[in-house]
Amino acid sequence: MNIVVERYVGEITKNICKLLLSADPDQQAVNRYLKKSSIFVAKVDKPQQEVIGVAVLLIQEKNTELKNIAVQINWQKQGVAKQLIQTVIQFSKALNCKSLTVGTGNSSLDQLALYQKCGFRITEVIPDFFANYSQPIIENGIQCIDMIKLTLPFLDKKV
Ligand SMILES: CC(C)(COP(=O)(O)OP(=O)(O)OC[C@H]1O[C@@H](n2cnc3c(N)ncnc32)[C@H](O)[C@@H]1OP(=O)(O)O)[C@@H](O)C(=O)NCCC(=O)NCCS
Repeated sequence: MNIVVERYVGEITKNICKLLLSADPDQQAVNRYLKKSSIFVAKVDKPQQEVIGVAVLLIQEKNTELKNIAVQINWQKQGVAKQLIQTVIQFSKALNCKSLTVGTGNSSLDQLALYQKCGFRITEVIPDFFANYSQPIIENGIQCIDMIKLTLPFLDKKV
């Protein structure tokens, strides 16, 4: 099955919305950053160009930030997130950005593995970032309290 990753400029469908909320349950925050971001989708060609993954990239002056990434559960662990991340890296480099950052929770062990496998390094910890969420988030038996920021610097190739 052929998976294509491309920029998306259409409306936020229910399917895309569900994916975004699986990564970030804060609907208001999602709405806020969507307005200012570029959206990328992973699609399978059969049966009908179904969207199976999404990534949201916020472009700042010299830096881009991956605000959201999610893959449909039945398509996970098949490299789709890696493909989305490779596309946002190429897009960020083409804009001459210096780095790509991403934030995740201390309990998001799979996500921490994914980002480090893609070359990101931990660059900052924001203590208590998630501490006041109305519903405590528990993953892998760990409460999500702190935000872990990871950065992928784009090396300047000039000698
Ligand atoms: C996190 C998420 C986007 C990963 O998507 P994915 O398509 O399954 O990831 P990939 O298949 O591209 O995996 C890439 C790497 O991450 C690692 N990885 C992914 N899921 C993993 C898991 N459950 N356990 C351990 N490692 C995992 C894999 O080892 C893989 O490396 P490999 O190619 O060397 O095997 C997906 O699980 C998801 O949508 N989760 C819910 C939303 C979410 O949490 N988003 C991130 C918010 S910070």
